Amino acid sequence: MSDLEFILFLVPPILAVLTILNLFKRKHKFQNLPPGDMGWPFLGETIGYLRPYSATTIGDFMQDHISRYGKIFKSNLFGEPTIVSADAGLNRYILQNEGRLFECNYPRSIGGILGKWSMLVQVGQMHRDMRMISLNFLSNARLRNQLLSEVEKHTVLVLGPWKQDSVVCAQDEAKKFTFNFMAEHIMSLQPGNPETEKLKKEYITFMKGVVSAPLNFPGTAYRKALQSRSTILGFIERKMEERRKEMNRNENDLLGWVLKNSNLSKEQILDLLLSLLFAGHETSSVAIALSIFFLESCPAAVQRLTEEHLEISRAKKQSGETELNWDDYKKMEFTQCVINETLRLGNVVRFLHRKAVKDVRYKGYDIPCGWKVLPVISAAHLDPSLFDRPHDFDPWRWQNAEESPSGKGGIPGTSSTTKSSNNFMPFGGGPRLCAGSELAKLEMAIFIHYLVLNFHWKLAAPDQAFAYPYVDFPNALPITIQHRSSNKLNHHIPTPNSSY
Ligand code: HEM
Repeated sequence: MSDLEFILFLVPPILAVLTILNLFKRKHKFQNLPPGDMGWPFLGETIGYLRPYSATTIGDFMQDHISRYGKIFKSNLFGEPTIVSADAGLNRYILQNEGRLFECNYPRSIGGILGKWSMLVQVGQMHRDMRMISLNFLSNARLRNQLLSEVEKHTVLVLGPWKQDSVVCAQDEAKKFTFNFMAEHIMSLQPGNPETEKLKKEYITFMKGVVSAPLNFPGTAYRKALQSRSTILGFIERKMEERRKEMNRNENDLLGWVLKNSNLSKEQILDLLLSLLFAGHETSSVAIALSIFFLESCPAAVQRLTEEHLEISRAKKQSGETELNWDDYKKMEFTQCVINETLRLGNVVRFLHRKAVKDVRYKGYDIPCGWKVLPVISAAHLDPSLFDRPHDFDPWRWQNAEESPSGKGGIPGTSSTTKSSNNFMPFGGGPRLCAGSELAKLEMAIFIHYLVLNFHWKLAAPDQAFAYPYVDFPNALPITIQHRSSNKLNHHIPTPNSSY
């Protein structure tokens, strides 16, 4: 045996010994892993974790695991060893240490469908650049000066055709509203226009794939969604080319703005626009549907809302104004409590995907570098130690929540309380805090304004929100509509020119 052969002969056993030593060292190093069950090989506990459950609960899986192991436990989810956190403090810590100790880590299938340049899967400098573009475009100044009146216009277009005693599917109507608004805002597409309607249809197929199992075989929802993705991108690309040729380019929408103000490549712009359409449309429409659902069984909150919005409407009538403005919006204080409570109890986004990029120690537990980490934000929102009677829809708990010296909100003796708005994270937190949170609240508030001033509604058939884990009403929330006869104020809905 030559020297070389001898060395090659020794390499495999040496590597094997080193690997075993390393594993032993790591095992020894991470002796304080949280308790938990790693489940079946490969599958782990993913099937149980994703089993649908009522959206106003944390589901049997979380309930069972928290009572067995506590609020921080280990598991094997989405094919990876995972630390699951239902602990509000750890959730905050994870989100605030984005880029330092933890990093965004959505499953590969999400990148496949939203695109590799989607903000949801980008990290580092590219994420910061894209985030800056989104924040600029959703800035407070734009919300005040431009978006508020567009939101109002689209609300009236959707609610206008609602007929006395008719049944409408509230979830579909809310989707129509947010889609039309985002499509106009992103690419100046007009509601009712054939190309907008075509895009909407493609988008529905696309969405079914985003939330389905990532099985890329002929006939699967995922495969169809990948095809829809190409159609939608082709559509956006054509719009982009048209825009490039225009002399007086429209810079009021996101497409025009990005073309003028960024150095992004064509692929990057396409993925950015597609993921903003996704992020800005699905979430706020579900939130609006949830508020309609919760309010239906809480007449006291509807009464209080009606008083608030009638007052705004009366003041507008007196001043001879018709359109809502920022000052009106700021007067919608109880409405903000309803919005908070809807987001707390309904939990539109239930958990986030992260990965530890360093070894982390938290409350004596080890979180090894490379492990997946799931901050379950819904678990904190439904935690009885943080929110009294967490399963009740109680908007009053948010009154004075900010000012209260003890950090406790609500009306003592009459209502539940909340420990601190710190534990309330419907829009995530840290450097990846939702870029559209203010827009989402504005959309909800304006929709509620016109809804309570113009209609009474009742569930037309039983329905409730489920977490799949994306939140959805299986029957699209059918409601029977009655017009409010007493509304002789400015803010009754004018008959729209076109129904769509
Ligand atoms: C009630 C409605 C909404 C909810 C509950 C919601 C929730 C969230 C959450 C939890 C995140 C953080 C994701 C993560 O950290 O992994 C997020 C991110 C994001 N949301 Fe929203 N969102 C809503 C509406 C909107 C709207 C209307 C837009 C506007 C276009 C929007 C745009 C975005 C964007 C661009 C991001 C990525 C931010 C980043 O990575 O820096 N969202 N959203």
